[in-house]
Amino acid sequence: MKATYYGQSCVEFDFDGIKVLLDPFVTYNPLAKDIDVNTIKPDYIFLSHGHQDHVADMATVQKNSGATVLAIVETAEWVRKQGVPEDKVIEFNLGGTVQLPFGSVKMVYAVHTNSTPDGQYGGLPVGFVFNVKGKKIYFAGDTALTMEMKLLADIGLDWAFLPIGGYYTMDVDDAIKAAEFINCDRVVGIHYDSFPPIKIDKQLALDKFQNTDVSLSLPKIGETIEL
Ligand code: NI
Ligand code: MN
Repeated sequence: MKATYYGQSCVEFDFDGIKVLLDPFVTYNPLAKDIDVNTIKPDYIFLSHGHQDHVADMATVQKNSGATVLAIVETAEWVRKQGVPEDKVIEFNLGGTVQLPFGSVKMVYAVHTNSTPDGQYGGLPVGFVFNVKGKKIYFAGDTALTMEMKLLADIGLDWAFLPIGGYYTMDVDDAIKAAEFINCDRVVGIHYDSFPPIKIDKQLALDKFQNTDVSLSLPKIGETIEL
């Protein structure tokens, strides 16, 4: 089981050959200029919400791959409007779990806002908990620290992908608290450095995590890590 980081919150899981892409945003990310978006061909695309830095390449990647796109109901409506065929869109909602060939995915709470690029209401922003052959992975999406995260404490999470850039989401200090709330000791940092307001001191982030029982991974853009 592997994860490749494409910058911002764009992550591709490889679940023993089934590829799952989250929050496609590559073309407009100057930090990801070495990534050719046309080489990304997932089987599934999950959207945490409709902000541009999470969906900008959805239509391109979907067209190239024929991937099935999953999102909360209102964001899924926007996905259909981008020309994605009805049978390639799965809408669900908070608290719901979908069963897919690689495992199950539950949609969970996030504290943020959500509109789609056409200015419409996108439903609530969300995170996802993947359960793949007993391995549990939390992708938080864009979120502030919230007490609701404590609801994930007894799941037995193996990995958590948490925003650490601050300004629009949690920062490093809140991500450390979030790791406690969700009872997970392996964090991969996302949603940092792409724009000036979310530039962080990476060494300081690593040092802060070093003082806790939680490990922080910051893969380079294009790098693949083993989960
Ligand atoms: Ni956002
Ligand atoms: Mn964002």
